[in-house]
Order: sequence, then structure tokens, then C-alpha cells
Amino acid sequence: MMQNETEKIIDEKVQGTTLNLDNKKDNTRKLYIESYGCQMNFSDSEIVASILAKEGFNTTQELAEADLVLVNTCSIREKAEQTVRKRLEKFNAVKRVNPGMKVGVLGCMAERLKSKFLEEEKIVDMVVGPDAYKDLPNLIQEIDEGRNAVNVILSKDETYGDVAPVRLNSNGVTAFVSITRGCDNMCTFCVVPFTRGRERSRNPQSILEEVNDLWNKGFKEITLLGQNVDSYLWYGGGLKKDFEKATDMQKATSVNFAKLLEMVATAQPKMRIRFSTSNPQDMTLDVIDTMAKFENICKYIHLPVQSGSDRILKEMNRLHTRQEYFTLIDNIKARIPDCAISQDMITGFPTETEEDHQDTLSLMEYVKYDFGFMFAYSERPGTLAARKLEDDIPEDIKKRRLTEIINLQQEHALYRTQQHVGKVEEVLIEGTSKKSDAHWMGRNSQNTVVVFPKENYKVGDFVNVKINDCTSATLLGEAVELSKNN
Ligand code: SAH
Ligand code: F3S
Repeated sequence: MMQNETEKIIDEKVQGTTLNLDNKKDNTRKLYIESYGCQMNFSDSEIVASILAKEGFNTTQELAEADLVLVNTCSIREKAEQTVRKRLEKFNAVKRVNPGMKVGVLGCMAERLKSKFLEEEKIVDMVVGPDAYKDLPNLIQEIDEGRNAVNVILSKDETYGDVAPVRLNSNGVTAFVSITRGCDNMCTFCVVPFTRGRERSRNPQSILEEVNDLWNKGFKEITLLGQNVDSYLWYGGGLKKDFEKATDMQKATSVNFAKLLEMVATAQPKMRIRFSTSNPQDMTLDVIDTMAKFENICKYIHLPVQSGSDRILKEMNRLHTRQEYFTLIDNIKARIPDCAISQDMITGFPTETEEDHQDTLSLMEYVKYDFGFMFAYSERPGTLAARKLEDDIPEDIKKRRLTEIINLQQEHALYRTQQHVGKVEEVLIEGTSKKSDAHWMGRNSQNTVVVFPKENYKVGDFVNVKINDCTSATLLGEAVELSKNN
């Protein structure tokens, strides 16, 4: 008991230091930054904090003492935008007691609404799109001088590869490393190609430097991030779509995602490597073979499918069929039998019939996903679906279908977690369990959460854990020994 108490205090100290590690003594202004939406936004906020650290800003967790409040926004569904607008109301209330506070919006809503944001939300002083963060020093000078500031220019080559991110709210163990920006896929429901621009890849050298640096700082797991990681292609810089125009030399020395994975896995053989997100139409067998070859690449693929109906997939401009998706799943399972797979699904896409919905349920039965992220269709202004198709599925039907797929996913998740019971699995400890101070929380290779009594292990240890029991979301076990991989 005493042992655990002491450990807990030490952990908190370690965490506190990690949080403030990058705050500089000479910095006098305070930045409060909040992120919504995808992992890429959280990663971008770390880039923004790094750029602003050089401008005299330290981050703070206290809204009321902030000189500058930044909110990194998401436009993926209408609800995400409403959440941000509600938050802005809260900032308004804080501004009454802290009138010097400036407010900036970053990310996808900034890109989508541009200067309209300034008219719609009086609290906002500054609007900055995802490719314009390096302009923040100038934009902040503008608002310091009492003017509003906007930069929403999208870029052909900005990857922020030369900015070393400040790790925000870090557990000191896991970190995101972005590898591509933008998306060229143009799924008809999706706002991302409009808000994040065309796809471009980051120099593999700068990715390796960041990964090595993270390892040297004690991090044990990284997630390579992109809207569509399988489409990664470095040929010296420039847009993915311009690859055809590259020289023969550039083509011959180009680096694709499978190669990048191999480079990262080889550079840091003890670092766990994850990646997200994979798009079925772009995932190659080479990537799966590379995953199978390296023990340190985690056996987990987030492989959104959106629908099980061929007709709907086509309407969504997802460039694969249901059968091709099954073939991909079969190939994954044949090469990596214990690979976990997760999905994103959308219910109630325009024209979706009961039969289409049944196709989604039967596709799920085939795959039996380990996890899932499921959404009711939300029409996004400017997308192809919004322009061409009527949002014609009534809200109650969208919701009912959503409930059905969520319930089925729950069953499959339990089926999958049960397969782990009785096994000994390697778990990387991320921190104390939310439910119990006496337990650690970590993940196995398949990304399933594992909870077990602390004993003498510590955050950042790889531990072999015997799995004794499970719920549909969590494995419960007990430590056997430290893994040889420490
Ligand atoms: N490739 C991206 C996908 C981003 S969007 C990635 O890195 O994750 C994440 C998920 O949101 C999509 O897979 C899709 O299931 C869902 N989504 C996107 N647009 C949506 C919309 N208009 N309505 C409902 N869900 C949507
Ligand atoms: Fe969106 Fe499709 Fe790209 S979901 S992010 S357009 S792969």
C-alpha cells in the first residue's frame, strides 16, 4: 500500500515535469490551447505550441490566466462544429473577467469559414488554417496591434517537418508523429480535402529524426499519422498528385509507406510503431508484409469502410468494392493471424436503403471488428454529396441503424476480447487506470486496453501480462514478468 502511494506521488511529479519540460523560463506570455477532432489536430497543436514557444509563450492549463486562447477545431460533422461554438461562448464569459485575452481559431473550421468566422463569432480575433501556422508570429503581431488577423492559405509543400513539436499533456510514453498532410481521395461525404488541402508527404529524414528524438526522451510508442497513411510518397517534396511529373531519379529513390515503416522500425527496433489511418483502396500487400516482418510494428489496422453496400460505396466515391475489402481482410488475416482491425461506419448516407444497411451488418459479421467508430451521416456544406444528393434519410432512421451497428459492434468487440483471455501478452504501461489507483492501464499490440495490479512496475515498462478476464472494451490481467523488450 505504502509502496503504491509513493509510486503515485513520484509518477505525478514525473508527469508534471513532462508537461512543463518545454516551457521556457524567459517566456512571459501564457497560451491556453484546446484541441477537438482527429489525432492530427492534437498533433498540430503541439506544432503550434512549439512555434509560439519561440514567440514568448508558455502553455498554461488555466483558461482564466491566458493571454492567448487557441482552439483547434474540427468540421467533420455538424455536431463537432456546434461543440466549438459552445466553447467560444464559454471563452466569452472568461473574457469578461480577463479583457486582455485574445482568441484564435485554428484547424478545419477556420479553413472552412475563413473570415466569416470573425463576423459570426465576435469573440474571435484570429482565424488560422491548418497550413498557415508558421505565419502565427505575424498574425499575433496584428492582433496585438488591435486588428483582426486571418490566414487560410493552403499549401503545396507545408509539412511542418522542420518544427519540433512541444509534447502537450503527454504521458511521456506514447506520441504522434505526422507523416502526411491533406487528402486527395475526395470521399463525397468528407470535408477534409477542402479544409486540409491536397496530399503531400513529409521528408522521411525528418520523420526519423523526430522518432529518434522521442526514443532518446524516453518515449516507447509512436503513431504515424496521416489522413491516408498508405498513400505516403516522398520523392523530394511536392504534392502526391504531381509524382508523375517527377524525374526518373526522383522516382527511383522515392519512399512509399511500406518503405517508411521499415525505415522507422529498423531505426528504433525497441520502439512500438502504430499508424493511422489506412484507406482500403490504398493499402498494399507490401505494408501488410512489413507489419508481419517487424515485431515492433503493432498488429492493429484502423481500416474504415463506411458502408457494406457496393452501391453506397460507389456513391461515397470509395474506390473499392465489398468483395475487394473482404479480399484485403483475408490477406491481412492470412499474413498476420492475430491482427486487430477496426472500422469507421456511416449510417444514413443519402439514398441508403434497408438492404444497404443489411449489407453493412453482414460485412461486419464477416470481419468481426475489434473496435469501431460509428456515426450518423451529417451533411457538410461544399462536399460533393451535399451538392449532388439530398440528405433524405430521416434522422430517426439514421439513429436506429446507428444503434443496430453499435450493438453489433459491441458483440463483436466482446467476441474479440474473449480471444485474449488465457494468453500472456506484452503490454506497454501508459499510466494509472482511471478506475483504480492500484492498477496500471496499458495496451497490447492489438491496441486493446489492459488493466492489471501495479506491483513494482512503472510507467513506460513493457510487461508480459496474463489475461484473466475481459469486458467488451478492456482486458483484465496480472503481470507475469518484465518483457525482454525493455
Ligand atoms: N482518413 C481520415 C478520415 C477522417 S474522418 C482519418 O484519418 O481518420 C473520420 C471518420 O469520420 C470517417 O472515416 C467517417 O466515418 C466519418 N465521417 C467523415 N465525414 C462524415 C460525415 N459527413 N458524416 C458522418 N461521418 C463522417
Ligand atoms: Fe475524408 Fe476519405 Fe480522405 S474520409 S480524409 S476524403 S480518405
